[in-house]
Amino acid sequence: MRILVTGGAGYIGSVTTRELIDQGYDVVVLDNLSYGHKNTLPIKAKFVKADLLSGNIASVLEGEHIDAVVHFAGFIAVGESVKDPLKYINNNLVGGYRLLDAMKRSGVNRIIFSSSAAVYGDPKTVPIEEESELVPTSPYGETKLIFEKYLRWCDTAYGIRSVSLRYFNAAGADLENDLGEDHDPETHLIPLILKAALGQRKNIEIFGTDYGTSDGTCIRDYVHVKDLAAAHVLALKKIAGGGATTYYNLGSSKGYSVREVIDACAKITGKRINTVESPRRAGDPPRLVASSDKIVRELGFKFEHSDLENIIRTAWTWHSRHPDGYK
Ligand code: UFG
Repeated sequence: MRILVTGGAGYIGSVTTRELIDQGYDVVVLDNLSYGHKNTLPIKAKFVKADLLSGNIASVLEGEHIDAVVHFAGFIAVGESVKDPLKYINNNLVGGYRLLDAMKRSGVNRIIFSSSAAVYGDPKTVPIEEESELVPTSPYGETKLIFEKYLRWCDTAYGIRSVSLRYFNAAGADLENDLGEDHDPETHLIPLILKAALGQRKNIEIFGTDYGTSDGTCIRDYVHVKDLAAAHVLALKKIAGGGATTYYNLGSSKGYSVREVIDACAKITGKRINTVESPRRAGDPPRLVASSDKIVRELGFKFEHSDLENIIRTAWTWHSRHPDGYK
C-alpha cells in the first residue's frame, strides 16, 4: 500500500513514517515544514512540500497513487489555541476539510486521524473511556472533535473509512532512528524539563498548583511515541482489511502529576531542576488518564515502551545528543 502521511516531518509523524517503512509500506510525506523538520525524513520516503490550505492535494493523491492517508498535520498547543482560536480553526479544520475533499474527489477512502485526549475536556471520571462525554475545554480539542465528526459523516456519505486515534501525552524518543521531540516554540512539559536539566533554561514553570489533585498539579498520561507509531500501523491494517470507522484512546492508563514528572526527570538525569510556581494555563484540564482497553481488546495492541522511566530516559538521551534539536 502507498500511504500519504500529512505532517510526516513532525514529531509523531516522523516516527510513524519510519514505522510504516519498516513494515513495508510505501510512504509519501506531505508537510509544509512550518513546524516539521526536513532532516527527519528517511531516504525511502518521497517528500512533497505542500500546505493543505493552498496545495493541490487531489493531484498529489492521484499522481502518487495513494491508497490511504495518515493525517498528522495540524497545530497542537492547547494554551495557544485558547489565545488564538482562529489559527486552529483555519489550520486544523479548513486544512482538514481540504484534505477530505481531495480524498473524496480522488477516490481515496481510508484515513487514520491524529485525534487527541483534548476531545474529552475535563472528564468527570478517570480512566477515560471512549464513550465518556466529549466537552473540549480548548479550541484545539474542539477542532479535533469536529474533525472526528466530519469523518463519521464522510463515511456515511462517501464511504471514507477512518480510525481516529485519541492520543494522550506523546513523549519519548525513537533512538533507533534518532528521532525526538523538537518543537519551536517548545511548550511540552518533558522536553522543557529536559532543557532545564541541560542548563538551557533556568527553571521549569509549574502551571497551577491548586488543582484538586494529590499534589495540586495537573495529571497526565504519558505515552511513548513509538507505541503511538505502532498503533497507526495496526489501525491502518484494520481499515485496509475492511474494518469499520471507529476511534480509540491511546494512553498508558497511568497518570503522573507535573511534580512527579519533574521528580522523575531529576532522578533519571541526575540534574537539579529548579521549579517556579506559576498560574494555571488556560484550557488545561486537571486530570487526563486513558482507558486503552478498547484498542487492546479490538486490535490486540500492546504498549511496549510507555513506562515513564523509559519515556524520560529515551527523551533525555535524544536531547543530550541533540541539545539544539534538529538545527
Ligand atoms: N506544564 C507545566 N509547565 C510547562 C509546560 C507544561 O506545568 O512549562 C503542564 C501543563 O500545564 C499540563 C502538563 O504540564 O498540565 C502537560 O502539558 P503539555 O503542554 O506537555 O501537554 P498538554 O497536556 O497540554 O497537551 C498534550 C498535547 C496535546 C494533547 C494533550 C492530550 O500537546 O496535543 O497532550 O492529553 F491533546
